[in-house]
Amino acid sequence: MIKNPIVAPSLLAADFLRLEEEIEFINSSHADWLHLDIMDGRFVPNISFGMMVVEAASRVCRKTLDVHLMIVEPEKYVEEFAKAGAQNITVHAETCSHLHRNIQQIKALGCHAGVAINPHTPVGILEHVIEELDLVLIMSVNPGFGGQKFIFETLNKIRQTRQMIQNRNSKALIEIDGGVGLQNAEKIMEAGADVLVAGSSVFKSKNPADTINKLKSIGNLPKYDV
Ligand code: DX5
Ligand code: ZN
Repeated sequence: MIKNPIVAPSLLAADFLRLEEEIEFINSSHADWLHLDIMDGRFVPNISFGMMVVEAASRVCRKTLDVHLMIVEPEKYVEEFAKAGAQNITVHAETCSHLHRNIQQIKALGCHAGVAINPHTPVGILEHVIEELDLVLIMSVNPGFGGQKFIFETLNKIRQTRQMIQNRNSKALIEIDGGVGLQNAEKIMEAGADVLVAGSSVFKSKNPADTINKLKSIGNLPKYDV
């Protein structure tokens, strides 16, 4: 029996002209977290939004604010994101020369600390920090854009990370981000994930509330092919 995922809709796929309504919808849904994608046009080839939007969202949002920093030199900005209301702050291993220090910095601000890895980055990069982590975010697309196709190899990375977490007795949750939807969520959970980020598959679906409900109860659904 697969456990129920933590479901984290990504605001990137929402209608930014109706942000308050979109966040109120998340409040009223069975979603657990609101995922906020910060892109700088340097680490990733796209620019999204910054701490002003996180702060505005925090005034309305009653779900956990899960901030994913796709930016270079994240250490310069984590304090501002914490002040803006971020509860989870995830930095990319590829952007941190001092990853251990960056994790301590996030925890000292009273936030849950996460590390994200790109599709090509080996899970082994986390080996010496896994006990320090609250979250491991495994990118299942190359970061920068919503609506991309799930990279199947991610399933092996989830299994490897689950093994590492068990071996080291870490309490880190495994979060999967990119191309996640009803067609592959069950396989992702079977591989050992805890948290599903879902942008397009929630906000662009005909009935977003129903899609969130189906993602939440993924263990009870009929099987789908990836
Ligand atoms: C991609 C972002 C994702 C994005 C996911 O770089 O990190 O969080 O919003 O969007 P979908 O679910 O549409 O792939
Ligand atoms: Zn993300």
